[in-house]
Amino acid sequence: ILADYGISPTHGFLPDVLPLTRLPDPYYNKWEAIAANLQALILSKRLRGVVDRLPVLDTIGLEHDAEWRRAYSLLTFMAHGYIWSGDSPSDRLPPSLAVPLLKISAHLEVPPVATYAAVCLWNFKPLFMDEDIDNLENLATLSTFTGAIDESWFYLVSVAMEARGAPIIPLMLTAIAAAREGDAATVTRCLHTFAERLDDLTTLLVRMHESCDPKIFYDRIRPFLAGSKNMAEAGLPHGVIYEDGSGKDEYRQYSGGSNAQSSLIQFFDIVLGIQHRPTGEKRGRPQDQDEGHAPPPKHNFLLEMRKYMPGPHARFLEHVQSVTNIREFVEDKRDVDRPLCIAYDACLAMLRALRDKHIAIVTRYIVLPSREVRARSRSRSPEAVRRRLNLATASRQPPGIALDTTSRADGSGKKDNLKGTGGTALISFLKQARDETGEPAVEAW
Ligand code: HEM
Ligand code: ALA
Repeated sequence: ILADYGISPTHGFLPDVLPLTRLPDPYYNKWEAIAANLQALILSKRLRGVVDRLPVLDTIGLEHDAEWRRAYSLLTFMAHGYIWSGDSPSDRLPPSLAVPLLKISAHLEVPPVATYAAVCLWNFKPLFMDEDIDNLENLATLSTFTGAIDESWFYLVSVAMEARGAPIIPLMLTAIAAAREGDAATVTRCLHTFAERLDDLTTLLVRMHESCDPKIFYDRIRPFLAGSKNMAEAGLPHGVIYEDGSGKDEYRQYSGGSNAQSSLIQFFDIVLGIQHRPTGEKRGRPQDQDEGHAPPPKHNFLLEMRKYMPGPHARFLEHVQSVTNIREFVEDKRDVDRPLCIAYDACLAMLRALRDKHIAIVTRYIVLPSREVRARSRSRSPEAVRRRLNLATASRQPPGIALDTTSRADGSGKKDNLKGTGGTALISFLKQARDETGEPAVEAW
């Protein structure tokens, strides 16, 4: 059934056919040329001029899915480069990008932005064809905004994790089938292997520190991954108009790229029966239910992120959701099969540990650098100096591309409003997701 959902038994959500390093049809040479020079064009602030002069190319020359995926990745890098590389963000994407990007996104069932699929899943190559891609030492990126090794590393850690985690997919589908048959020994064995693999994934995750510098990540890389939703502070109050030639010119708003769009981690949650509530909702029944007026449905970010996964992958998660049975199986045997319960709880503990390490990364890569920027701008910004000298305040700076209002130069002491590129309130969201990971445990810890 995996093939029906575009999933590879060996590569998981990474494509079975390796990402193309180039579109074969020379008709697309202009796209390839821009992508190949993306860093230089961004640095020299010439990307917008070049894209504005680019003709609108048709999608007719795209044949295999690998070609559509390459085109999607190229165009989303160009689009985010176009939006975020000037002195202030552009709230328009010209037809040369908008027209083909909208068609390609519809074909691949992904939104027309730099998703996790665009920058990670479909943006890598092995260095040596005869070596595995779950090894960080055998991976390189195809496109980057900055050319920094830090940016490549940031994407490649995820690629290696997807590859290393891939065998867990068929493994846990086997476990689901075994649970259906009442075969506890097989379920236990699968859970054991799953827990060990999760530990491997955490080892890979913390390798982020080796070659991705937090300051470079925060200052240089992250701004390009930003979306167009809730981005007023960063200078996109309405979103972005995709000039698709229809003349309608409507603003669209999308979340930015985020690992929350990884189908792999959501697969783990589903298979283990972990439930993530809307942010801020406590365990137990939602309030007000007894009084007969149901509370308005709250926004569930992780569910929303499924719309940013390739269509077939999101449908796979829905399918797994409809057959998942491990948690109930374990619950039924809680007093009679201790090894089974221990193996299940070990998976929860390992996934929780992974989320713990991730929170530490987010603290080091986002929270701390944002405080530094704020402290710096408080004490040294022209605004702060003027205020100390009691001079009249100059007009507001042009909007920058910072993703948080804490970096505002006016030091106005407004409440922290730090947001992830996906749009969450970062740490509180991530801590809740981590705590929910432990909730189904058979033995309370
Ligand atoms: C979510 C930051 C690397 C997995 C998030 C969020 C932030 C974030 C801020 C909240 C959602 C949002 O608003 O965007 C970072 C940073 C990283 C990093 C700064 C590295 C420098 C990774 C990697 C993985 C990952 C390598 C691979 C597994 C996730 C997942 C979520 C998430 C699964 C959804 C929340 C959850 O399921 O617990 N990340 N991330 N992140 N990230 Fe990362
Ligand atoms: N989601 C990550 C961030 O917010 C990339 O920086």
